[in-house]
Amino acid sequence: AQAPAAQPAAAAAPAAQSAPAEPLTILYGSQTGNAEDVAEQLAERANADGLTANAVDMLDYKPRDLKKEKNVVVLVSTHGEGDPPDNAEELHEFVHGKKAPKLEGMNFSVLAFGDTSYEQFCQTGKDFDAQFEKLGANRVVDRVDLDVDFDDRVESWIDDVIAKFKEATGAGQAHANVTPMPGASAQPAGAQAPASYSRKNPFAAEVLTNVVMNGRGSDKEVHHIELDTEDSGLTWEPGDSLGIIPANDPDVVAELIGALGAAADDEVTGIDGEVSLEHALTHQYEITTLTRPFIEKYAERAANDELNALLAEDAREQLAEYIDGRFIIDLVEDYPIEGMAGADFVRLLRKLPPRLYSIASSHAANPDEIHLTVAAVRYETHGRKRHGVASAQLADRSEDTNLPIYIDHNKNFKLPTDDSAPIIMIGPGTGIAPFRAFVEEREERGAEGKNWVFFGAQHFRTDFYYQTDWLRWREEGLLTRMDVAFSRDQADKIYVQDKIREAGAEVYQWIEDGATVYVCGDANAMAADVHDALLDVIGEQAGINAEDAAGYLKNLQKEKRYQRDVY
Ligand code: 2AM
Repeated sequence: AQAPAAQPAAAAAPAAQSAPAEPLTILYGSQTGNAEDVAEQLAERANADGLTANAVDMLDYKPRDLKKEKNVVVLVSTHGEGDPPDNAEELHEFVHGKKAPKLEGMNFSVLAFGDTSYEQFCQTGKDFDAQFEKLGANRVVDRVDLDVDFDDRVESWIDDVIAKFKEATGAGQAHANVTPMPGASAQPAGAQAPASYSRKNPFAAEVLTNVVMNGRGSDKEVHHIELDTEDSGLTWEPGDSLGIIPANDPDVVAELIGALGAAADDEVTGIDGEVSLEHALTHQYEITTLTRPFIEKYAERAANDELNALLAEDAREQLAEYIDGRFIIDLVEDYPIEGMAGADFVRLLRKLPPRLYSIASSHAANPDEIHLTVAAVRYETHGRKRHGVASAQLADRSEDTNLPIYIDHNKNFKLPTDDSAPIIMIGPGTGIAPFRAFVEEREERGAEGKNWVFFGAQHFRTDFYYQTDWLRWREEGLLTRMDVAFSRDQADKIYVQDKIREAGAEVYQWIEDGATVYVCGDANAMAADVHDALLDVIGEQAGINAEDAAGYLKNLQKEKRYQRDVY
């Protein structure tokens, strides 16, 4: 493939001189920045290649405009049980609804982001893909379903999309080679571009502090971690996440090598060349999470009837049951493959994806450090101790080496630009992390807007994260109000949503006064329960029915005054 920067950047003739090409609309929807990043990348390259492309957040897109489009690309992620991300919800509903227009004559392609460890892998992307076809649109490039280790396949999809849409629109032929590359060779010779760290070029950060915040007797083990970012040039805003490229636990790696009957220094072809098996399993591949695609590939080599039976179409439940609580090591032990070389095994694995943590500190307040709030994931299933890859590394081995990190910007979780606007922050458990950054930032900026925090944890005595910060901010008046729900300090459970209901009149008043509502933390139960509590409060306080309350909250979301970062 030709490197865009190698193209002559001299021509002044703008692309629009020939017959104006039909525009390409790139619609993206994802909870974090993944789909957005790729959408921007595609737009930039498409424009440089003679297309007229525009990347738009689905939240900012009027669904009714879809019928006017000739060329559409959708990049969308999937959450939980096959659900669309918040900002894709409306468009997703629209294309499946009664008002969906005929899309004959529209060209499209879908790039789906997902995770093969979920049963409903890439469901939202599949939905758009199937529905566009049903509405009569013409698929010019087949959908690609991306797993968490998506890098490689993105490039070839972008190449295909650009080639096929150029063909479809007749764009670019006359002047593809003379289109100026925005930014390319704009740098005066000799000027050093500032180092910019990214997922592909991470910064190695030292861990400065690692303390458990829970008191003795707690069920939880949540660490406050501080990383040194001095001289990194890294900047972030409250609401952004930190991407960590983790390393697998040496004990887990050794156990797996043993189970394979291989040797640590066996040579294998890794991500970018020959490395030892030990290196590949430690730094390059996911070696814990068991997924259906992995089992399928493994089974091809195992030729084991029992394992093949588990993969039968009518055994989906049995397979899910087998996967539950098991890791790759269990499969290798349960269904060993005689004489399988480490090099062959490595070929079955997916790349070790980075892990994201909400940043718990403000860059403005603390430019040389990044703080994190990390729950150590540890449990035991099927007679084996298990732990989370990154969380255990941070908790137990944070002093061993510097951590490769980068910033994962999240423009869907941002403080209001208006410093006088009130905010309501709902963050039980480790969901509190970004709100420490929010309040710290507002303190630093001297923002005068009111700040209200809802926090929940099991026990006041052992689990009140950042208690001294909250008390200080409360005393200083920066924190206008804090409501806490300690679920297990009394006979009946109390959760943040109970506190929201109790304070319904004030919550509604804040919203009416322009407050933005933020929710961070558990996606499975908490986020849905808090959502329901907000609906109830709105319905009750505004005196409207459930449908209108849903419309009110939806509208709040469209105005970016209801933002969620849930995982
Ligand atoms: P529990 O562990 O006592 O059930 C942070 O983990 C806090 O969130 C804990 O107090 C936990 O309570 C609580 N929690 C558990 N499920 C919840 C839910 N569905 N909604 C809100 N909070 C929940």
